[in-house]
Amino acid sequence: MKFAFFVFFVVTVANIYTASSWRLRFPPGIAISAAVFGLFFFLWALQIVAPVLTHFYHLSDSGLDTPFFRGLAYLSYVVLGICGAMFVITAAFDVLWFLARTSSGFQIGKAAGYVTLAGILITTALAGGMALYHGGRLELVRVTMPVRHLPAAFDGVTIAQISDVHLGPFLGRDFSQTIVDMVIAAKPDMIVITGDLADDTAAALKDAIEPFKALHAPLGIYFVMGNHEYFRDPRGWIETLRAMGIRVLQEEHVVLERDGQKLVVAGVVDPVVARWGFRVPDPFQTLAGAPEDSGKILLSHQPVLARMAQRAGFDAQLSGHTHAGQFFPFTLLIHFFQTYTSGLYDVDGLSLYVNRGAGFWGPPMRTKKGEVTLITLKAS
Ligand SMILES: [Fe+2]
Repeated sequence: MKFAFFVFFVVTVANIYTASSWRLRFPPGIAISAAVFGLFFFLWALQIVAPVLTHFYHLSDSGLDTPFFRGLAYLSYVVLGICGAMFVITAAFDVLWFLARTSSGFQIGKAAGYVTLAGILITTALAGGMALYHGGRLELVRVTMPVRHLPAAFDGVTIAQISDVHLGPFLGRDFSQTIVDMVIAAKPDMIVITGDLADDTAAALKDAIEPFKALHAPLGIYFVMGNHEYFRDPRGWIETLRAMGIRVLQEEHVVLERDGQKLVVAGVVDPVVARWGFRVPDPFQTLAGAPEDSGKILLSHQPVLARMAQRAGFDAQLSGHTHAGQFFPFTLLIHFFQTYTSGLYDVDGLSLYVNRGAGFWGPPMRTKKGEVTLITLKAS
């Protein structure tokens, strides 16, 4: 709820700022003021619709799951994303304008207001259009991951990582099918799903998740919970995925063997469980009873656990959660909130890979396409 009020507050302030900045670019007059502020009031109201429809009245259990409301929520999220980017771009142009005005000897004519407005609109259209195009699109990212203590028998093993699919009102069966087709074509030895698979109940997404039944890999399929599974239907998702032959790792590990050599794959719950008073994830605990002479890989939805995982003795960690910020301006802001945002990191000897996610959350926009990852383990 706190987050909802925070979003409401930020959206309101951002729209008031953008409207005021735009207003100053036009000549005085009540009619122009009414037109600019009226436009932004309409856009503000439209932006509030989607969070209300999808977070307070989940479409699937409110009886509002009709093409009209789905379409309205989608449009609302698009406007939310574009207005968010437009606010930051407007503010950036305002700073440049202010600096130009205050710097000595630089005269700005009346036309500057219109020129900068055109600049704001073109920049927003380019950034927003590209982000909209990339939302819901996927690419296969190939990564070679050095892993210390990796037994020779597992050198070259491939892992397909799927993360942050966010099945829900806008990403359904077709998106699942595309992901599954990409994974099967890559012929991985192992498949891992690192959380935030879904934004709704397992019952509501029964059809959307069905293509995942076709996944298969000789070393198994493993899943760890993300924060979003806990928000809606943790039990339902654990049961559904188990019934599909996917091993759900909750503060536990499995030992894989090849030619007498061992690779431990462990999984933690998401730190969000602390909200309901449950025990927070503990990489040390997941290794209880694990063989010493093994390579050790941790699946953790959130990359923030990497330091603890390194201390616990893990050699590698696969994570998601960040979406790499998803779209501008969050692609920049994410660096203030997350140490590890996307890609491969060396955390004092632990190899960490942060997947930027397949789907999207909120606005259907991504600065870069979603990813499905094929990781090749390499002894180092
Ligand atoms: Fe997440």
